Amino acid sequence: MNVIVVNNYDRMSEEVAKLVRGQITEKPDSVLGLPTGGTPVGVYGLLVEMGKRGLDFSRVTTFNLDEYVGLAGDHPQSYRYYMQTNLFSGVNIKAANTFVPNGVASDLDAECEAYEKRIKQAGGIDLQLLGIGTNAHIGFNEPGAEFGTMTRVVDLTESTIEANSRFFASRAEVPTKAISMGMKSIMQAKNIILLANGGGKAEAIRAAVLGPVTVDVPASVLQLHPSVTVVVDQAAASKL
Ligand code: GLP
Repeated sequence: MNVIVVNNYDRMSEEVAKLVRGQITEKPDSVLGLPTGGTPVGVYGLLVEMGKRGLDFSRVTTFNLDEYVGLAGDHPQSYRYYMQTNLFSGVNIKAANTFVPNGVASDLDAECEAYEKRIKQAGGIDLQLLGIGTNAHIGFNEPGAEFGTMTRVVDLTESTIEANSRFFASRAEVPTKAISMGMKSIMQAKNIILLANGGGKAEAIRAAVLGPVTVDVPASVLQLHPSVTVVVDQAAASKL
């Protein structure tokens, strides 16, 4: 793992946005794997600015890591809505090339299978960005998720529901299930960038980078990947 420690959130966002720009410049038809959450908002903002200055997304394809089960794409807390707002509407990406699992599909298992197929048809993910949960989850692969898992329906843990309730009017409104790319789907990406900021992520980052590789710390699986860059601010790196 290549660990880059930067001063603060803005530097983290700049570092990651530059790496994404490098990927798109080198391969204009790149396939990107994308996370949601608070952490990458700054990266997306910078990518929108880069797009205005000419970074061309017209041949880029994106696959999001996950989506809440039960939320349609026009629900303000859905990850489709988040992506539209934070990135897709601001760059010249083709709507047809943006994939987010459909959390209201009538057959969720078929949706998961189709999602994996689409990733394969696109040629696999060139660059996967990842946030990390305070319990070291990646996507919505909670502790205990087997390393062989592919896109599937998962139950969210209490701690994740609690952490994500800040985006909802009340805790009762937070979905308890999600569709998430699996551990194996993530590990199949050619390159991976894990980003984190703030002291609340310090323990998760320590366990992911320095701890044993175990299903109890989902992000620790990244130690087994040949091309991972971890970009963290000083607070998130404080236990390294
Ligand atoms: C959610 C997402 C993850 C994300 C994590 C951290 O549960 N499913 O993909 O990495 O939260 O979110 P935040 O960046 O808001 O801390």
